[in-house]
Order: sequence, then structure tokens, then C-alpha cells
Amino acid sequence: MLTLVTGTTGQVGRRFVPRLLAQARPGESVRVLVRDAARGEPFAELGAEVVVGDLRDAEVLGKAVAGVDAVVNVAASFRGVPDEEAWAVNRDAAVELGRAAQAAGVRRFVQVSTGLVYGVGRGRPLTEDDETRPGGAMWGAYPESKAQAERELLALDGMDVRVGRLPFVYGEGDPHLAQSLMWAGNWAATQRLQMGHHADVAQGLLRILHAPGIAGRIYNIADDAPVTAVELHQLNGVDVPEGLYDRTDPDPWLAIMSTERIRRELGYRPVYPSVYAARDAGAL
Ligand SMILES: NC(=O)c1ccc[n+]([C@@H]2O[C@H](COP(=O)([O-])OP(=O)(O)OC[C@H]3O[C@@H](n4cnc5c(N)ncnc54)[C@H](OP(=O)(O)O)[C@@H]3O)[C@@H](O)[C@H]2O)c1
Repeated sequence: MLTLVTGTTGQVGRRFVPRLLAQARPGESVRVLVRDAARGEPFAELGAEVVVGDLRDAEVLGKAVAGVDAVVNVAASFRGVPDEEAWAVNRDAAVELGRAAQAAGVRRFVQVSTGLVYGVGRGRPLTEDDETRPGGAMWGAYPESKAQAERELLALDGMDVRVGRLPFVYGEGDPHLAQSLMWAGNWAATQRLQMGHHADVAQGLLRILHAPGIAGRIYNIADDAPVTAVELHQLNGVDVPEGLYDRTDPDPWLAIMSTERIRRELGYRPVYPSVYAARDAGAL
């Protein structure tokens, strides 16, 4: 079984691929798609095959999926990019990758998505059966581009497509936790961020990749304890700005996802149930 992984030079992908390789059984191998050959070298050293190119290039997609049994599409463009790029990579290139995979006879396709596809106003944890209604100025085209990619990929005939929706991912030296203050500094004190440690995001994605009989299924992946804006400041060792206490949280359930389905159906249990558990284990 050959598995293609995209987005492997990113924060999630670079921590997912070593775990995928470490758990590989005899006969299982991994191919990675990278844009820069030099950045593929660490993966080659771990035993992965490397294909170089951009996801928006149809010729590259053909090379990347040739002979592949499964795809895990981790790649996305959302960190400060213009909306056109978000649409081009997160929706158009993801769907083209799905079509190329379908044409090449790939059996299984895991699309990595985000809890931001749910949007606001549910009054309870978000479940995979909820209709997606992404929006909000903060993230531009990112949530909608990911939601459309999910829909179009799940509609492809004859390929087993699965979706994993991630929370805010942190840990193992990822600067994301410190970066959270860029937004959390403008939140209400009680506003919460739902987290997932890299070890648990990889665990969730591996379960989604390997489980039999879940074609077309969507799974939320997250830990058990969303943290407030106050705690994010404390965790980063920064004073809590006074303004936080003057604001009201507009939606206490924004991007807070239920993990009931992945627990019940795939046996997922976070290794780090909270950011505090990860901190105390030295895994930040
Ligand atoms: N991190 C989070 O908290 C979080 C939360 C929810 C969902 N997610 C999802 O998780 C996935 C990974 O996120 P991340 O945090 O790892 O993102 P990241 O650090 O920004 O990495 C993005 C990856 O995608 C690759 N990529 C972007 N445009 C590409 C293109 N045109 N062709 C080929 N590769 C391209 C990047 O390659 P280069 O290195 O060459 O730029 C990089 O490897 C995404 O699908 C994202 O939507 C992440």
C-alpha cells in the first residue's frame, strides 16, 4: 500500500508523516509531495518517496497519484494569503487532486479540513451532521474554500473519501500556541479555543485513514478541554489585557466540536486530553 501525503512541509504534515512511517507495516510505503526538493530531503531520509511540485499543476498531480492506493491531503494555503490563493489551493487544487486520484484508481482519500467550516450560532458542540455555514471576516475565504472542497470531494464517484476536521493544532515546537494571542488578545475573557495536540491530530488522521467501512464519513478531531482567552495568556506567560474582561463572548460554541463520533466509531482517545496535560508532559 502506497500512501501519498501532501502539505508535509507544514506544521501538521511534518509531524504526521514520521508517525505514518513509524506505523507502516511491511509492504506499506509513503510518498510526499513538496514544492521545494531540498525540503523533501528529511522525508527521503525517513524512507519516503518524494515528488516535487505545486498542487495547482495538473501534470504534478498525475505524477503524485500514479500507483498510489491512498491519499492524505494535508496541504492548504491559509496563513495570510489572498483569497484567490485560498480558493485555488484549498478548493480547486484539492478537488483536482481528488479527480486525479479517482482517475488513477486510488481507493481511499482523506481530506484534512477545519472546524471553522461549521460557522456560528449552534448553542452546543458542533457535530458532523450539522450543516456547514462558514463565514466571518477573520479567516477570509479559508473556511468556505475548505467546506466546498469537502463537498466536492465527497461527491466524487467510485472513491472512498473521508474527512477529518481539525481544531487549533499545537505542540512539539509549533509556534501556534504563542500565535494564538494575535486573536485571543481581542477576545472576551471567556471565549474558548478548542485545541488538539499534534500527536492527537496524527492519531485521529491515522484512524480515519486505516478504518475499514467508513467511506463518505466526516470526523471531528480535538482534545477534551477547550481553553479560554485568559488561559491562553497564562499559558504563554503573558499578562491578561484588561480589555478582555470588558467584552462579551459573541458565540460560546464557535468552533467547539463534539468528538463523540470519532471516539465511538474509531476508538479515538486524546493522548493529551488538555493543553495542560501536554505542558506537564513537556510536549509543548
Ligand atoms: N494548524 C491548525 O491549527 C489547523 C487547524 C485546522 C485545520 N488545519 C488544516 O490542517 C492542514 C495543515 O495545516 P498546517 O497548519 O500544517 O498548515 P501550514 O503549516 O500552513 O502548511 C501548509 C502546507 O501546505 C503546503 N502547500 C500550500 N500551498 C501548496 C501548493 N500550492 N502546492 C503544494 N503544497 C502546498 C505547504 O507547502 P510549503 O511549505 O511549500 O508552503 C505546507 O506544506 C490544512 O489542511 C489546514 O486547513 C490546520
